[in-house]
Amino acid sequence: MRVVILDSPDSVSRFAADQVCCLLNKRRDKRLASVLGLATGGTPIGLYKELIARFQRNEISFQNVDTFNLDEYVGVAPDSPLSYHYYMLDNLFKHINIDLSRTHIPKTDGVDLNESATVFENAINRAGGIDLQILGIGSDAHVGFNEIGSSLGSRTRVKSLTKRTRQDNARYFTSIDQVPTLALTMGIGTILESRSILLLATGAGKAEAIRRSIEGPITASVPASAMQLHPNVTVAIDRDAASELANAEYYLTSELNRTLVSRSS
Ligand code: F6R
Repeated sequence: MRVVILDSPDSVSRFAADQVCCLLNKRRDKRLASVLGLATGGTPIGLYKELIARFQRNEISFQNVDTFNLDEYVGVAPDSPLSYHYYMLDNLFKHINIDLSRTHIPKTDGVDLNESATVFENAINRAGGIDLQILGIGSDAHVGFNEIGSSLGSRTRVKSLTKRTRQDNARYFTSIDQVPTLALTMGIGTILESRSILLLATGAGKAEAIRRSIEGPITASVPASAMQLHPNVTVAIDRDAASELANAEYYLTSELNRTLVSRSS
């Protein structure tokens, strides 16, 4: 795992935007489509702002891009400001030149949820798989809505949200009772099939989850620890989120060496 510790949440957003731009521009030069896996929540907002700014400066185009979002609540209509459909439109899609028919968010409204999960997985396969999956992390180390105990081989399916996740997300709702109890989420197995993964975390509230995910054992009790199994994962975090890591010094030195090696080649 590449662990990149940065000074601030803004630096994390800029680093993530660099990764996305690099992928999109490399593939565009080869006339290939890019497939991005996207997350919602507070963490990637800075990344999306940065991508919009770079699009406005003509540094990036989303013309040949497919996107797949990790998850959507069950019981929230797609046009509700509380839905992840609305979030994506509001925070990214309506500001860039993406073909909306190429954006995919698990459908949960007025559909058979199991069928919807299969349709979603099939669409990922038809697009050729995900090139780069962006992930946030829950304070309990969930990724997507793969809550504690999720099978490390799980596929897209309905999951019950834990009390902790519902409490964490209550800030977007009028009260905790309004927070849905279910979501349709990409599985951990699905996420691990992405060709590369970029996990983002900022703030002290994520420090314990980050420590357990990176430096603890791989276990279904810490869903993000499954990322240790993937050969191409970058974890980009700010100093607060890195504050509980035992090997922070080593990760900083490794990044420094990486820069030196790339300069000398
Ligand atoms: C959102 C998602 C979740 C969030 C996680 C962190 O699509 O899949 O796993 O990434 O709950 O949320 P924030 O960034 O709001 O702390």
